[in-house]
Amino acid sequence: MNGWWDRHVVPRLIGCACRQPAVMKDRAKVVPLASGDVLELGCGGAANLQYYDWYKVKRLSGVDPSPELLDRAQNELAASGRSANFVAGVAEALPFASGSFDTVVTTFTLCSVQDPMGALSEARRVLRPGGKLLFVEHGLAPDASPAKWQGRIEPVWKNIAGGCHLTRPVTRAISAAGFVTDTPQGHYMKRTPRWLGWVEYGEARLAS
Ligand SMILES: C[S@@+](CC[C@H](N)C(=O)[O-])C[C@H]1O[C@@H](n2cnc3c(N)ncnc32)[C@H](O)[C@@H]1O
Repeated sequence: MNGWWDRHVVPRLIGCACRQPAVMKDRAKVVPLASGDVLELGCGGAANLQYYDWYKVKRLSGVDPSPELLDRAQNELAASGRSANFVAGVAEALPFASGSFDTVVTTFTLCSVQDPMGALSEARRVLRPGGKLLFVEHGLAPDASPAKWQGRIEPVWKNIAGGCHLTRPVTRAISAAGFVTDTPQGHYMKRTPRWLGWVEYGEARLAS
């Protein structure tokens, strides 16, 4: 299923699911905190463009492995009149020098990368001292019943949803990767099944 489905259906699914009002509401809480040189992991679709505070963002870069989603991102960029350096690549092997960003943004991406700890370790590498990681990610629900369903549904879900995992911890993984999270928040998104709708968001800094 993966070739044709991933090229033609998944980008449309992501384009639609990732722009639901509840999702956009969570982006709006975090993305405006980005400042300086900013890197977005999984920039495909460019759904965050409208939430950046362009007075604070000096330069925006992004990386995504999907040619179709990168195309969509470039179209969004052109329509917005903004400029950014969106390139093909994966978060686990960022094509950027160490210490070259003030902010790394990850929104609904850590669920889909192959190796979340590898991606977070790369985020650490490219951040300057004092840099921050901004995150809005869905993941493992804190309650037993949705968590049980996440485990049951994930094997099928990840095959139809572009490799999206349901059972990955979010803030716990970010802390384990060496970040300190300031008042992370979590909630179930409205009008979304609980196995899909648990979202954690916040700002994290490199542990000194
Ligand atoms: C659910 S979509 C979210 C897109 C976007 N981050 C957003 O907030 O709307 C997951 C994104 O992660 C990207 N992705 C998958 N594997 C990746 C990897 N290893 N490194 C970076 N991005 C990846 C996908 O191509 C897709 O654009």
